[in-house]
Amino acid sequence: MVMIAPSLLSADFAKLGEDVAALNKAKADMLHLDVMDGHFVPNLTFGAPVIKALRSKSSLPFDVHLMVNQPENMLEWFAKAGADYITVHIEAVADLDKAIDKIHSFGVKAGVAIKPKTYPDISDAIMDKLDLILIMTVEPGFGGQKFMEDMLPKIKKVRQMIGDRKIILSVDGGINPQTAVLAKEAGVDMMVAGSAVLNDGDWQANIAALR
Ligand code: DX5
Ligand code: ZN
Repeated sequence: MVMIAPSLLSADFAKLGEDVAALNKAKADMLHLDVMDGHFVPNLTFGAPVIKALRSKSSLPFDVHLMVNQPENMLEWFAKAGADYITVHIEAVADLDKAIDKIHSFGVKAGVAIKPKTYPDISDAIMDKLDLILIMTVEPGFGGQKFMEDMLPKIKKVRQMIGDRKIILSVDGGINPQTAVLAKEAGVDMMVAGSAVLNDGDWQANIAALR
């Protein structure tokens, strides 16, 4: 069964703690935390202190998506804040191999995110170390955008590249009950969803509808 990782970007920032606890009860598989620096993407969200404060509110794995320039310098902050997965953008790191090793050195699982216009150029040696690959199906920066169907061939290609490896293939952006069908057909293991889970209705039912 495909995993669902609700994105906190669509939560109520005035009561993040309550929302995180509610998502735990709503049977999410992971919690997706979008960190934006206003440079790599044209938006700002939250950093490690907020994630650290939320850690005690949920037993779900924390899937931290770093949309920041030079994430290498910040990895330790997010590891210490309680991240279970740290995902860096292939476009933002100087040396992906080193960044993965650094994430692993903190005992955290390592992911790489790929923007829509970026070719998934990852060597076998790096694939062997990766724990998660995040295919962006919107331009990163904002929730509530439209799923880019032209990313489906890329998802299928990365699924093939993964082969037998135990890498979680995740997709982020514009997931709703309709596009979830397409993403599943293309072979994803996990879907990040912000607005489709949190905007309205019963969160547990929204998560179930995506599965
Ligand atoms: C976008 C973020 C996403 C975002 C998804 O840059 O990486 O995680 O929250 O939001 P929806 O599901 O509304 O497209
Ligand atoms: Zn994200």
